[in-house]
Amino acid sequence: MKYLMLSIALAFGIMTSCANAQNGTTMDKNETIENLKTRRAIRSYEDKMPPKELIMQVAEAGTYAPTGMGRQSPVIIAVTDKATRDKLSRLNAEVMGSNSDPFYGAPAVLVVLADRNCPTYLYDGSLVMGNLMNAAHAVGLGSCWIHRAKEVFDSEAGKALLKEWGVEGDYEGIGNCIIGYPAQEAPAPKPRKADYIRFVE
Ligand SMILES: Cc1cc2nc3c(=O)[nH]c(=O)nc-3n(C[C@H](O)[C@H](O)[C@H](O)COP(=O)(O)O)c2cc1C
Repeated sequence: MKYLMLSIALAFGIMTSCANAQNGTTMDKNETIENLKTRRAIRSYEDKMPPKELIMQVAEAGTYAPTGMGRQSPVIIAVTDKATRDKLSRLNAEVMGSNSDPFYGAPAVLVVLADRNCPTYLYDGSLVMGNLMNAAHAVGLGSCWIHRAKEVFDSEAGKALLKEWGVEGDYEGIGNCIIGYPAQEAPAPKPRKADYIRFVE
């Protein structure tokens, strides 16, 4: 009798969870959503380069971001060469008139640029940046969007780098996604503003 009751309860549980999954009402913790919610901007890094395969995995996730009409307007330049990373940091700091390291010691930078000839280039590039940061978090790396890529790659020094990297065309710097092993706990997120989501029902 005990086993019969247990079997009925189990079967009912399975049926309910299937029904929930089918009508989209399941509230189980979802790994992808947790990853999106727990990613934070990391501003302190270990002096240790992640393996190339891991960086490639993150960069590849970036290439699967949606783009307007599937045109794939962005490009991703994965910089692990220290001299180039330091140069990018210096050029970035110059835009701010500072001599700090705007890359917070991160050993690698994924520079995202996008082709200005595509009407959706800015959106495309931003979505790539989002994928990169979320993918980095998913594989245990820290990341942060560092701005001023536009100014850097519109400058003569930035254009020279693009030429060196074989990036030809009218590319705009969208963002620098710094990555590396975090040397800090992820900060707590700011509370979300009350009227962030508004339902129209
Ligand atoms: C377009 C954009 C530009 C950003 N530029 C910088 C930057 O130059 N330096 C920096 O430390 N963080 C920068 N950030 C990171 C934000 O400050 C950070 O995402 C924000 O404070 C929210 O924190 P969270 O990412 O931990 O949720 C930028 C973020 C975005 C989306």
